Amino acid sequence: MISPHILSGSANPRLALAIAEQLEVTATVVVPERFADGELRSTVHRVCGDDVFVVQPTAPPVNDHLVELLLLLDACRRARAARITAVVPYFGYTRQDPSAGPGATPGMRLIAEAIAHAGADRLVVVDPHTVELEAVSPIPVETLTAVPLLAHRAGLDASGHTVVVAPDLGAAKLAERYAAPIQDTIALIRKFRQSGSTVNAVEVLGDIEGRPALLIDDMICTGATIEAALHLLHGHASDIVVAAVHGPLTAAGAARLREFGVRRILVTDSIALPDTAPPIEVCSLAPLLAAAIADLNSDRPVREALPIS
Ligand code: R5P
Repeated sequence: MISPHILSGSANPRLALAIAEQLEVTATVVVPERFADGELRSTVHRVCGDDVFVVQPTAPPVNDHLVELLLLLDACRRARAARITAVVPYFGYTRQDPSAGPGATPGMRLIAEAIAHAGADRLVVVDPHTVELEAVSPIPVETLTAVPLLAHRAGLDASGHTVVVAPDLGAAKLAERYAAPIQDTIALIRKFRQSGSTVNAVEVLGDIEGRPALLIDDMICTGATIEAALHLLHGHASDIVVAAVHGPLTAAGAARLREFGVRRILVTDSIALPDTAPPIEVCSLAPLLAAAIADLNSDRPVREALPIS
């Protein structure tokens, strides 16, 4: 069996290096050449016959990192890699409904098709906004989850006292995935989005009075959703911890997070965060991704859950 070849684009080399360290292999970091008009050129060497794992989340700027991913996949294919896996821990465009109405583009499907067309044999993602990605992708998708890791770090236990709060109805299933294994309760917030960065949260459905709350979401971008939820929870929940899998944070979003006055905000390193001082705590996906890569490299089914230390 050949060892996995970890190849990183420029989106999150630190994560790729951490994955490689877990696997006890070296990682190749490819820095793209950038032309004056913004075009990118990525060149790969020595991948012929290798089982290559291209680590490149579509972190902001999403479109640049996406194009870079496509260039890397195509370069690996042309350099005759034996097998190519696109490891895209944060997969953008999944907020775009694949069954959007007439005139709308199902962006998620288009991106998945582009990744397959560029040369990927399979795709690894972590907690995409919708699992419909698996259905629309032309190549097999391994969907990993950071929920057990975040629940563990948040200290979620089976006391039954903590309430897991979804900041909108769309996050209800995600909240259930935190709460169900330990039979905690959930509460839901009714929210209406007024613009890309403004959200109105109108009511909480469920019992939060005097209870510690774990406020969850799949991602924090501008911070508007979490901020609106906090307005409803403050003065009712006894303590609030925020957990989101992905942090594709805008600069304003990062500043907004700091102003929330929340004791802890947990996010993973699916996206490299520029500022990770408290209250932001980063939980690394490296062990989860390394275990999945080891399984895929050995043609074993990917283990569903990892023991968390
Ligand atoms: C929306 O459906 C998502 O699950 C997140 O709630 C949303 O994308 C978070 O974005 P923001 O931080 O900009 O409110």
